[in-house]
Amino acid sequence: MEFFGRCIVLVLGLILNESLLCNGGVTSSFVRKVEKTIDMPLDSDVFGAPPGYNAPQQVHITQGDHEGKAVIVSWVTMDEPGSSTVLYWSEKSKQKNNAKGKVTTYKFYNYTSGYIHHSTIRHLEFNTKYYYKIGIGHTARTFWFVTPPPVGPDVPYTFGLIGDLGQSFDSNKTLTHYELNPIKGQAVLFVGDLSYADNYPNHDNVRWDTWGRFVERSTAYQPWIWTAGNHEIDFAPEIGETKPFKPYTHRYHVPYRASNSTSPLWYSIKRASAYIIVLSSYSAYGKYTPQYKWLEEELPKVNRTETPWLIVLLHSPWYNSYNYHYMEGETMRVMYEPWFVKYKVDIVFAGHVHAYERTERISNVAYNVVNGECTPIRDQSAPIYVTIGDGGNLEGLATNMTEPQPAYSAFREASFGHATLAIKNRTHAYYSWHRNQDGYAVEADKIWVNNRIWNPVDESMALAVS
Ligand SMILES: [Fe+2]
Repeated sequence: MEFFGRCIVLVLGLILNESLLCNGGVTSSFVRKVEKTIDMPLDSDVFGAPPGYNAPQQVHITQGDHEGKAVIVSWVTMDEPGSSTVLYWSEKSKQKNNAKGKVTTYKFYNYTSGYIHHSTIRHLEFNTKYYYKIGIGHTARTFWFVTPPPVGPDVPYTFGLIGDLGQSFDSNKTLTHYELNPIKGQAVLFVGDLSYADNYPNHDNVRWDTWGRFVERSTAYQPWIWTAGNHEIDFAPEIGETKPFKPYTHRYHVPYRASNSTSPLWYSIKRASAYIIVLSSYSAYGKYTPQYKWLEEELPKVNRTETPWLIVLLHSPWYNSYNYHYMEGETMRVMYEPWFVKYKVDIVFAGHVHAYERTERISNVAYNVVNGECTPIRDQSAPIYVTIGDGGNLEGLATNMTEPQPAYSAFREASFGHATLAIKNRTHAYYSWHRNQDGYAVEADKIWVNNRIWNPVDESMALAVS
């Protein structure tokens, strides 16, 4: 009897295993016509410098503290350093305030940067529109932003998600679709690979400048939360450039000290009802390393009563069923995945693979070298993994997929696009991915995401794909 019982268990196990291994999710039937992805030429409109002597350009803002009451304003002046001061005022009051900043420059091979300014505005009020003016003394320009609501568990907030953007004609479509999306993103979670300047001879840093001017129409008005990708490394010993991340870290400042990080490449912020952890796929993450120790101390600090949504951004995906960058994220997954399951991370967003993919809630943490248990399994404590490296850079689409589609992969499609994550309250968020389709953004993948702490019982419900 016992033998019979074991047989049934074995057979059931095989059937379940079989279904897990072979019943993959959806590979979209939409097949994009593969066209060459080319960078916009230097004289394109979107790269135009603003008129006027020493006018600030490449303006971008990001969160400047841990809670959302500060903003880092960054910009470049080309003719002379000029003023690093930001003049700012709330829509509710006419009183103008000053925030002093700092200016820096760097050299990269035969390139010398413009004057890069960073100024942090602090003690802002939540939920308030502010105007800010930079370029004081020469050609001043004025922009605005809206501060987030106070941190709290049921605060609705909508993030945009963009990765691997680059500066091609497709990149421009992605950004335009994000801007025109009726689901209005209030801040962008950017998963790495910004300008792709390193694809040019000697990493022509002029392409860092053009990228900054291209995205200014969004980055000057809402914070982009930055993650470093491999195209930010700019390690080129053949031309004497041996300091990794030099252009990126000079140009894009993040509030890493506010989360006790020792490096701008990994840090965290709270924004509305979300706690966002940014990791670096290209910095040491093994045991005893600074990033490891930081993350080990960081995860227990997340108070899910205050910020129910725990989101991680990193560049190289841990789960990826395309034949590109296959298993590049594997060692980081081995190091950190048990923590993500333990602390019930809601979603992990990655880029790097130039296509779109969303997984089921799965984990693969049982393997211990001798037990052979190395298959991803459904796990309601595990995050959803989204690859969104489909911004549209010049390297083109990743179209080649592993077959059959693995069970862990819920939806995949080789198209450019962007996504939005609209957090509604502590239990639900509406997530959707919008492909670039012949001049339109089409909502091609969408799910209601259930929070892992406050609504963990039901599986996140995939909606019919339109
Ligand atoms: Fe990448």
